[in-house]
Amino acid sequence: MAEQLFFNSQDKLSRYAELRPQLEALIGSETDSVANMANFCAALHTAFGWFWIGFYIVKNQELVLGPFQGPIACTRIGFGKGVCGTAWADQKSQLIPDVEAFPGHIACSNLSKSELVVPIIKDEKVWGVLDIDSTKLSDFDAIDQEEIEKLMTWFAGQL
Ligand code: SME
Repeated sequence: MAEQLFFNSQDKLSRYAELRPQLEALIGSETDSVANMANFCAALHTAFGWFWIGFYIVKNQELVLGPFQGPIACTRIGFGKGVCGTAWADQKSQLIPDVEAFPGHIACSNLSKSELVVPIIKDEKVWGVLDIDSTKLSDFDAIDQEEIEKLMTWFAGQL
């Protein structure tokens, strides 16, 4: 296993391209999902430096906090609640340029300004979500959504 990740490019798409093979090397041969979620968050944090990156996992009809990078966060989120619970209920990514404009947004930190939540679908059901928060408004775009969705499809195949 590599001890460090390397990124040379400044543009976002190239950085995602650099990230993918390094993630595959880091996670591809490990079967423990907690270890893989932990390293996944750390790798995304190293690549992009976002404020908060973490997993919520469906357990007994709730989303429960999993491995993350960033400040402490809400531990449980109900079906259809907040941005994460909406991604779960709708089985669709949520790209939120301004969290204050999202009805029912759950503020774990008032520093979060924009958010991207991507569901992780396994056996046609939502297994969990990946939640990414930024302190900047409109920090995520369609490129992030598409690239994170691709990563989550790959990640779901590892579960
Ligand atoms: N904002 C999320 C809650 C999780 S935190 O951002 C880490 C939501 O509305 O579901």
